[in-house]
Amino acid sequence: MDLKKERVEDYLQSLYGEDLELISMRRMGETIPTTGDVKGFGYGSPLLLEYRLGDDQGSAVLSTMRVQYGFGHDHFSDRAQVLIWQHSAFGNLPEHVRSLDVGYFNGEGRLVSCGEAQEYFLLMERVEGSEYFFDLERIKEEGVSDLDLKRVVALSSYLAEIHKVKRDCPSLWQRKIRDIVGHGECIMGILDDYPESPAFLDPDELCEIEKRCVEWRWKLRGMTDRLCQVHGDFHPWNVMFGEGSKFTVLDRSRGEWGEAADDITAMTMNYIFYSVQKSRHLSGGLKDLFELFFQNYLEKSGDEDLLKVIAPFFAFRAVVVASPTWYPLLSDDVRRTLFNFLENVLNDDEFDYMNLNNYMR
Ligand SMILES: Nc1ncnc2c1ncn2[C@@H]1O[C@H](COP(=O)(O)OP(=O)(O)OP(=O)(O)O)[C@@H](O)[C@H]1O
Ligand SMILES: [Mg+2]
Repeated sequence: MDLKKERVEDYLQSLYGEDLELISMRRMGETIPTTGDVKGFGYGSPLLLEYRLGDDQGSAVLSTMRVQYGFGHDHFSDRAQVLIWQHSAFGNLPEHVRSLDVGYFNGEGRLVSCGEAQEYFLLMERVEGSEYFFDLERIKEEGVSDLDLKRVVALSSYLAEIHKVKRDCPSLWQRKIRDIVGHGECIMGILDDYPESPAFLDPDELCEIEKRCVEWRWKLRGMTDRLCQVHGDFHPWNVMFGEGSKFTVLDRSRGEWGEAADDITAMTMNYIFYSVQKSRHLSGGLKDLFELFFQNYLEKSGDEDLLKVIAPFFAFRAVVVASPTWYPLLSDDVRRTLFNFLENVLNDDEFDYMNLNNYMR
């Protein structure tokens, strides 16, 4: 992209006043300043800007982040996160260069300040309907209706459809596998939030679980061809049903590309969870929905390898529903059953969804 001199001048004038004049721009480390546009401006190389403001001369350094995959800088929002943080932190450390502003380039190459931002918000359409967890509350008490079966087919078919879209980007795959274990919203982050030595866990149990998950990470990180389009947080509080089996999903999370098992476990963990709350194992209508979900998904996707990679994703969803923070009212007995489930699944090379209760011991 060519960085237009007038765009930079407009921006500096928006900060320092209309009578500012941009004299030159020069890549740091280069000797010859340019009085025109910066050709082939590549993100990542800082620019020295020199300007005149009335009788005074001034200068500033315009810094951006290199656009590259890996190191968690894959998305523009990752790079924005780093710069927004730098703007808020530079001035807090003695002897550290001060940040004057932070902003973004828009589609026309205009520089726009967002230095005043204190917190960000998202404005979205309003969705009419009711959250799917209400269905599970009802099913737990009253059993399954024909509509409930149709809704499970609709949900698992939807996932089979979106997961068909594949992407060849090994670093995004490795990021997903790294995140499921180490991200603050995933296994390590959730376990860090657990109380110290709760009665339903043995002393080193959480550490042993993390070790198993790291071993699974090294087993999966080479399976880059599995990278596909995902929702990322496909649980019953993020699905709103309208009439019949028509639904809208909310709250996509942690990247557009990932592992299909992440979406499958986000939903199916809840059929297990609602049943275990009632009977310490998977039974009745919830068992029928769980098995139908897998049967329909595997039939529609043809993804037999899913069962060989699903374990750490079930472990993530199980530590969330067993969490004293997220679900404070559960008995230790229910939490213990959920931990038996996740540890047995982590110790099994291929998940056997038709004999789920074998994992509860
Ligand atoms: N666009 C929307 N239209 C209608 N209801 C909404 C909408 N967005 C959120 N809600 C309601 O607010 C609830 C919480 O919203 P949201 O999912 O964004 O929060 P959250 O705290 O991020 O939850 P989580 O990360 O656990 O999914 C949803 O379960 C839904 O009931
Ligand atoms: Mg949500």
